[in-house]
Amino acid sequence: MEFYCPSQPPPKIEADIIVLLWTWPFREQFPLNKCPKPFDEPRCFFTVNQTFYDRAHAVIFHFRDVCDRKSQMPQIPRPEGQYWVWFNMESPSHSPNVDLMDNLINLTMSYRSDSDIFTPYGWLEKKNEAQNFTIPEKTKLVAWGVSNWNPNSNRNEYYNELKDHIQIDVYGQDHLSLPFEDLNAVFSRYKFYLAFENSKHRDYITEKLWRNALISGTVPIVLGPPRENYEKFIPPDSFIHVDDFPSPKDLANYLLELDKDPIKYEQYFKWRSKLQPAKEDWAIDYCKACIALHDAPSYRIYRTLTKWYT
Ligand SMILES: *[C@@H]1O[C@H](CO)[C@@H](O)[C@H](O)[C@H]1NC(C)=O
Ligand SMILES: *[C@@H]1O[C@H](CO)[C@@H](O)[C@H](O)[C@H]1NC(C)=O
Ligand SMILES: *[C@@H]1O[C@H](CO)[C@@H](O)[C@H](O)[C@H]1NC(C)=O
Repeated sequence: MEFYCPSQPPPKIEADIIVLLWTWPFREQFPLNKCPKPFDEPRCFFTVNQTFYDRAHAVIFHFRDVCDRKSQMPQIPRPEGQYWVWFNMESPSHSPNVDLMDNLINLTMSYRSDSDIFTPYGWLEKKNEAQNFTIPEKTKLVAWGVSNWNPNSNRNEYYNELKDHIQIDVYGQDHLSLPFEDLNAVFSRYKFYLAFENSKHRDYITEKLWRNALISGTVPIVLGPPRENYEKFIPPDSFIHVDDFPSPKDLANYLLELDKDPIKYEQYFKWRSKLQPAKEDWAIDYCKACIALHDAPSYRIYRTLTKWYT
């Protein structure tokens, strides 16, 4: 018979790495220790139970949940060899207090491709065999989903000019309502989707591109980092960049032209015979951390992240 009482050693864990999530990210909970293929090897034991602090090989701090005060970080000494991982999916423009992490962090985990643990908002997977993609039925022209309506932002200025030349349906706060579960079905009806980022930073290409546009099967019109940066992640003929046009009016004219020319419009889907988009979720991000931790250098320090994270 087996039983466990506090005077006995803690339960044995059959994984070579113990990973403590210092908090759930944004308090969102999801199944731990269920990494899907191909992220299921090698194994880690994940927990949010802080009593594992002394035994954890790595502690992952979701930055937005600890960025207010240093007291939100552990107040007891760090066990020898334990990595502290800085996890952040927000852009530098929306990441206050990064200097709070000075002289604390060993590994970075973010959408930046030069992070120790690279967790992009999405990626392309090779299809097992080439197959022609069926473009979802299109009945509408341009959609945009916005959660934070900031009239002075760069993307709003662009939108304000663009909308004078082409019909745009806006969804979200103060606009057309869109239940989350209908998002892909609704956007799939549109020929184009405005994947406008809230700020422009290297590699900051978010769910606006991956989930809203590509997974929905619509053509993204992107505003964010330069075209070359997008082309590191997606084919050049899979998207339209606002910088490709001298003005919003010229972009509108091009979209109206594509609307009347199905052959030309369909060129934006050619890449889909070989590739398909996939999107991240929290569980997969942490599974990627497990894989990267197995290959992590035994010693690494960052005096500060502020110079890198711009
Ligand atoms: C945390 O783990 C300890 C054993 O290590 C256990 O006694 C305790 O109940 C756990 N707490 C929670 C909230 O699961
Ligand atoms: C895809 O469609 C093209 C043109 O209609 C055709 O030539 C090609 O054989 C198709 N490919 C596959 C894998 O079905
Ligand atoms: C992690 O960083 C801290 C603070 O810079 C440092 O004291 C510690 O030795 C580092 N640990 C590893 C495993 O790199």
